[in-house]
Amino acid sequence: MSASPSAVSDSLAGSSGTQEPFPEGPVRLGSDAHKTLFCRTLLDTFDPYKPAVIDWPKLDSQARDRLVSLPIWDIAVQTEGRARLNVAAYAAATTDPLLRKAIELNAFEEGRHKVVLANLVTAYGIALAPEPQYVVRGDPEWAFMVTGYSECIDSFFAFGLFESAKRSGFFPEALVDTFEPVIQEEARHILFFVNWAAWYRRTMPLWRRPLFELKVLAVWLFLIWERIGIARDVGNGVQDNNFTVTGAKSLGADINVAELIDICLAENKRRMSRYDQRLVRPFAIPALAGLARRCVRKPKRYA
Ligand SMILES: [Fe+2]
Ligand SMILES: [Fe+2]
Repeated sequence: MSASPSAVSDSLAGSSGTQEPFPEGPVRLGSDAHKTLFCRTLLDTFDPYKPAVIDWPKLDSQARDRLVSLPIWDIAVQTEGRARLNVAAYAAATTDPLLRKAIELNAFEEGRHKVVLANLVTAYGIALAPEPQYVVRGDPEWAFMVTGYSECIDSFFAFGLFESAKRSGFFPEALVDTFEPVIQEEARHILFFVNWAAWYRRTMPLWRRPLFELKVLAVWLFLIWERIGIARDVGNGVQDNNFTVTGAKSLGADINVAELIDICLAENKRRMSRYDQRLVRPFAIPALAGLARRCVRKPKRYA
């Protein structure tokens, strides 16, 4: 990053400087009004917090040890680093000024997540593995879609895990408050992304659409392969890309799959309810989770 975070956020925040007024009334998916609605929703809900001034709460030794032993820090930092680059690469390839501004803000926020995590790691003395070089090879649209759909999976489960950690006291309240803006930002990102995908597929020439749908399928297959593939390496000391399994295991034995899915679904609904009802919501992961929920029962103590 060349510019300072505050300089970048000042120029990106809000929708000032863009011509399009906020749409009124019903909005057709794929229309200019739809594009304005999802871009302005992201831009206008920007939270200007500055990672450098976050006052990391003092933790007692037990809470600190629990935090340090979570096996997610390497992959979390690297995921944010890669996300920033992937999203920034697509912003650079985007010609529409409002869309580009919104995607640049998305990239800025991914970079800010990485700074928050880096500061947390330093504050609590967590040792990280050396970071790889982040590079975007080839198609920026593919990179953007990989990050977008990947966040649709990870954020859905992160909502539930975060709430579980809050309820169980695994994370002290002060730390939960510190992290809340990061989690809500991911909700904004996936809302933005699914609306971009809904808008984009409707604006392209009909002949391109089957190719785009194939690309969407390829991204999902890639993400499934990545999660299964990396999970195999866990035994060799490589951190798992599968946040849900790793995270749930780390949060303690008391967590039950049915209960976790219920919390994820409820939290997803709650976090999305803050935004304009005319926007489409992430569908695939909540629907699959709802389907999976039908196959698992809560143990008697929950009934
Ligand atoms: Fe992020
Ligand atoms: Fe994100």
